[in-house]
Amino acid sequence: MENGSRTEQIELGIVSDAKVGDWVLYATDRAVRRIDEIEAREIIELLEDNYQPVDIKALPLKYKRIIYKIRTEGQKNRKTEELKKNEIENFRTNSNKKNDKLSTTGYSILTNSDLEYLLNLKGSNNLEALYSEANVMRKDRLEDFVCIHGIIEFSNFCKNNCLYCGIRADAKINRYRMSEVEIFRAAKFAVEQEGYKLIVLQSGEDYSYSDNDLIKIIRKIKEHLRVFIFISMGERSKRFYRAAFEGGASGSLFRFETSNPKLYRKMHPGHSLDERLRSLRDQIEIGYYIASGGLIGLPGQTISDLADDLLLVRKLGIPMLSAGPWIESAQSPLSKIKDQKSKIKNIEGDFDQSSDLLPTDYSLLSNDDRLRLTLNYIAAARLLMPEIKIPVTTALETLDPASGRHKGLLAGANALMFNITPEKYRADYNLYDHKYIEREKVWQKYGLFKGEESYEMLEERLQI
Ligand code: 5AD
Repeated sequence: MENGSRTEQIELGIVSDAKVGDWVLYATDRAVRRIDEIEAREIIELLEDNYQPVDIKALPLKYKRIIYKIRTEGQKNRKTEELKKNEIENFRTNSNKKNDKLSTTGYSILTNSDLEYLLNLKGSNNLEALYSEANVMRKDRLEDFVCIHGIIEFSNFCKNNCLYCGIRADAKINRYRMSEVEIFRAAKFAVEQEGYKLIVLQSGEDYSYSDNDLIKIIRKIKEHLRVFIFISMGERSKRFYRAAFEGGASGSLFRFETSNPKLYRKMHPGHSLDERLRSLRDQIEIGYYIASGGLIGLPGQTISDLADDLLLVRKLGIPMLSAGPWIESAQSPLSKIKDQKSKIKNIEGDFDQSSDLLPTDYSLLSNDDRLRLTLNYIAAARLLMPEIKIPVTTALETLDPASGRHKGLLAGANALMFNITPEKYRADYNLYDHKYIEREKVWQKYGLFKGEESYEMLEERLQI
């Protein structure tokens, strides 16, 4: 059996009658179904890269040092993985720990300055070297495992006024709220008709659904459908998170947005990073499979902040990164920066620029530069945390609708998000402008398999 240029031993799984020379679609070393050659080439194209060998000699010295460090110390680190796990465990359970000093020692071979360097990298030769290094790491650690999430955005009501967000409380938009029946129907369609094995239930912070309402929905889905449920509903109480977990939610998509406490306070009026991290730790402690991370390129954020975000993900031992570029929304006060080219301090009066926060002119960056920063971030994350799961976010696809997804995967990402919100509501869930909503049929065709087998594969892979 062939897999592109490689020939590998795989378990035949459910395609037990396959013969040598047949093309089979397989996931996690197990065959899923037989396919024809045209289909096989189509799949190979999705993940295969066309990186040319990069002339290492031509790369800057600092870059060579970092790569050397990853390659050599990375090997050593594999051996001390157990040790590190203990450290992470201690950190997680030590809830008395006052603040999150982002110390890099003991958690990472890459320092803030190394990461900063990678995030800033430009030039086609350098970038190709960076992405191919990350892509090789992905293949080495995760093979071609691509996880597919379906996201149901069930309400765009929100009590919060986050400065960057298009569905903030003050936004003048069409609001909708799906009923329990509609949510269940959307989940049922996704699971039974389309083969989704992992769905995310996302909304603004909408307390018109009581804790019990939400738990009831989770229970109902779990009772009737063979699917993993991730929730993304904001900062509810620890009691809610525990009950939802017991009701059948196994994952939580909960970003800390930024690890810089000052920036956090500015972006989230009335809220603090401490609160956010407390909730995140509660969820970790309860046992949720966590997807977390931050926004990339918030006005006022520095490259060093982004490096700290990655180090925080690492330090918390988060198994799945959720991070995407900030994109303007006409509904959010931050978008005025671009229009007026004004200083950040003019936004919403109290949004003053503290002296130790270097303003970035990110909001004035071209689309290409934003795309580069996001891809560099994905690659840096992969190199820092070889086994982390990284979904390509919708925001990245919005920056580059034609090939953002492919580029994300080739820069080290290994998971995809599809929007499965019912058509009639989809256009109203606009976290930012021009949100990418087209679905790529080819992934649906090959990435989703019906049947128990693929549910078990996911269970095994994510260990949930
Ligand atoms: N651009 C990109 N991402 C955004 N989010 C909210 N607003 C924007 C925006 N303008 C992200 C936040 C939140 C997630 C659900 O959507 O990071 O956690």
